[in-house]
Amino acid sequence: MLVHWCLAAIHLLAFALGFWAVLTRGTAFSRLAAGTGEARRVLVADNLWGISAAILLVTGGLRAFGGYEKGTDYYLHQPLFHLKMTLFILILLLEVAPMVALIKWRIALGRGSAIDTRHVKLFARFSHVEALLVLLMVIAATGMARGVTFG
Ligand code: HEM
Repeated sequence: MLVHWCLAAIHLLAFALGFWAVLTRGTAFSRLAAGTGEARRVLVADNLWGISAAILLVTGGLRAFGGYEKGTDYYLHQPLFHLKMTLFILILLLEVAPMVALIKWRIALGRGSAIDTRHVKLFARFSHVEALLVLLMVIAATGMARGVTFG
């Protein structure tokens, strides 16, 4: 019971951290686009977003398929679980371009060279869309946990 509780609490805390981090990263990208921000802020928020996404995946995976909640069969037959996973995959797809760009930033900063900020406006928009998708995941998750089905 204690493990179930811990996994559920960590999952929710990771959601809170991730939502804050991806919004903060979006704002940091926007500030850079406006010429008033710092790359360091983007990178710190990005680290936190990455950590929380990994925690969500591990704790969510254990809860769905590790026998800590209602069992694999329940989730695989729950339409809102599939919606939730589709939203998660959309987030991962939106994450590819900023992730690649930020890896290049880290390498450039490590070498003391300039970073490529051409796409920061687009990445700000991606981050804010990702935050919206995270909120939609919460709506799907709460229905999924309560066995909501359609028809
Ligand atoms: C951004 C990512 C995610 C968010 C925002 C999120 C959000 C949530 C929330 C709010 C709940 C609590 C629902 C409730 O008890 O009312 C929950 C539960 C759960 N989530 Fe996630 N989650 C995410 C990622 C994942 C992933 C990747 C998986 C699976 C691989 C997953 C599997 C689960 C499971 C199995 C539960 C327990 C549902 C139950 O009580 O039956 N989650 N999630």
